[in-house]
Amino acid sequence: MSTEIQIESVLTENRVFPAFPELVKDATISGMDAYQALCDEADADPDAFWARLARENLVWNKPFTQVLDASEAPFYHWYPDGELNVSANCLDRHLGTPTADKNAIIFESDDGKVSRLTYKELHARVCEFANGLTALGHGMGERAIIYMPMSVEAVIAMQACARLGIIHSVVFGGFSSKSLHERAVDVGATLVITADAQVRAGKHIPLKSAVDEALAMGGCEALRHVVVYRRTGGDVAWQEGRDLWMHEVSAGQAQTHTAAPVNAEHPLFILYTSGSTGKPKGVQHASAGFLLWALMTVKWTFDAKDSDVFWCTADVGWVTGHTYVTYGPLAAGLTQIIFEGVPTYPDAGRFWDMIERHKVTVFYTAPTAIRSLTKAAETTPAVHPREYDLSSLRILGSVGEPINPEAWVWYYKQVGGERCPVLDTWWQTETGAHMITPLPGVTPMKPGSCTLPLPGIDAAVVDEMGEDVARGTGGFLVIKRPWPGMIRTIWGDPERFKKSYFPPELKGYYLAGDGAQRDSDGYFWIMGRIDDVLNISGHRLGTMEIESALVSHEMVAEAAVVGRADATTGEAVVAFVVLNQSLPEGEEAIRIATELRNWVAKEIGPIAKPKEIRFGENLPKTRSGKIMRRLLRVVASGEAVTQDVSTLENPAILDQLSQAR
Ligand code: WTA
Repeated sequence: MSTEIQIESVLTENRVFPAFPELVKDATISGMDAYQALCDEADADPDAFWARLARENLVWNKPFTQVLDASEAPFYHWYPDGELNVSANCLDRHLGTPTADKNAIIFESDDGKVSRLTYKELHARVCEFANGLTALGHGMGERAIIYMPMSVEAVIAMQACARLGIIHSVVFGGFSSKSLHERAVDVGATLVITADAQVRAGKHIPLKSAVDEALAMGGCEALRHVVVYRRTGGDVAWQEGRDLWMHEVSAGQAQTHTAAPVNAEHPLFILYTSGSTGKPKGVQHASAGFLLWALMTVKWTFDAKDSDVFWCTADVGWVTGHTYVTYGPLAAGLTQIIFEGVPTYPDAGRFWDMIERHKVTVFYTAPTAIRSLTKAAETTPAVHPREYDLSSLRILGSVGEPINPEAWVWYYKQVGGERCPVLDTWWQTETGAHMITPLPGVTPMKPGSCTLPLPGIDAAVVDEMGEDVARGTGGFLVIKRPWPGMIRTIWGDPERFKKSYFPPELKGYYLAGDGAQRDSDGYFWIMGRIDDVLNISGHRLGTMEIESALVSHEMVAEAAVVGRADATTGEAVVAFVVLNQSLPEGEEAIRIATELRNWVAKEIGPIAKPKEIRFGENLPKTRSGKIMRRLLRVVASGEAVTQDVSTLENPAILDQLSQAR
């Protein structure tokens, strides 16, 4: 835990936007009283509360008799003797109901082609693929890497894995072959499901070749098959026996399949995310608890209605795409949009155009997208949301990073027409689903605050000893009681799990890794990470990961990476680099900086590319050799260093780094 944290008041914009009570006349949570009653029910008897939700909302093959087993805390086990199947809870449960013939997915490709799939059809395709995988000998407990574009096929792949008890680990298509390799080795993958290429903004970006590269790096001896979804039909290298087309795996297979019941705690997926040290952590989620929390939050936060057209713009490579594309909306029987492309192609009106054409009612996106579309709308009036009919919208959501009050107000006014609540949802890969968020029509909103915890979530702000801090005082955001959707462990590294999330001095509370404070209304204001994790366009990246990538380049002797505020991406990566040669200048400095940026893209992925690289002869260090990142953050922000630098070994280096560009 960093003690460097400096929390200043963020309560600059304390304007209250009233809830829209008319929105919730028939909502799942129909008002403040109903919200309070649920919170009270959970607080009075958490086990009874979570048992009731699990019985009422999930379909069980074998009912559980125990709710929470805390005997191995912080390794909590939820519903430990129950059995179910997650995919059956997303698909089979709707067969024989009116939902079966309803559209599950409306898919829009990069070039605007639209296809639709009912629940019945989606179920049939998932069954075919699950049968095909079974015929290949894949099944229970194996790990599959999924490296795919946003597509119906990605959802089919994930659902088919869940049906068979195969634990999936989705790797975002923007990650490099090196990152893919690291994850495939860590999970011991027997199966990779990928595509020939992905299509974004008219460009074809190969995926299969990255898989080939990753597998050629060695260490994946358990791997038996690479299944390839043919998206573009472009040329791909082929290894007979190992490589198979997805449509051929499914061809001729039965369209029915009995989903394998698994123990409630059977791992559903492993999703890698950045931590403060070392390599990314494989966050492991369990079947029943994850699905329950995904479903409850779709119902509560998004007030799921049968008539909704739900659109979460997140990629399935991130947790938001797991919870609010592949699992939550399907379990709730919603019609959802899946979009292959990017918000700025063919122009920055694409999102608004799609909302109009598909009559989207609930729209969930990231602040970075909102900020970049605001900018575009200001310069190109034709792509301003007012040029589109957005009257179908009833709820707007924001996810993944802090939403600044300006972006919030723009979203509220220009997109929502001052008719729709903006839900600033705070959560993490580790929490499984929303934790702190306004409820539509219920919670009065303050731009920049994620407001109040969901029922059952005992969130608090505490000091280093786990004591609650006073309102208006900053501290560590913790969750005091376990909840079903929580991370179970870090794949293969239970010690790191305990150390990262349950430090002993915090009384067994879950440590989120964010700083926060509460205002006089009890509203939560998130103030960013307390560790060395950056949030670039809503993507989590560890400074250490980028530093290791940089120092693995032969020219680099030392590197330190910090974040600086960025008007569009929230934070931007700034790297301070010491080379194994004299300080480069002019053209040479530009050339080396470009080479290093591309190197990072190759090592991790383009999202990790430093926005700025500054060269110096050294880094600011204490006499004991510790790099003073606090000072580098100030230098990166372009501000003058006013802090005490007397403990620095080499104070003059600050001037050099401040001037360097
Ligand atoms: C940040 C994404 C402020 C936070 C779902 C958290 C937020 C990290 C918000 C998790 C929000 C997420 N306001 N900050 N509403 N939502 N964050 O694991 O720092 O990719 O710890 O999960 O994003 O990122 P992750």
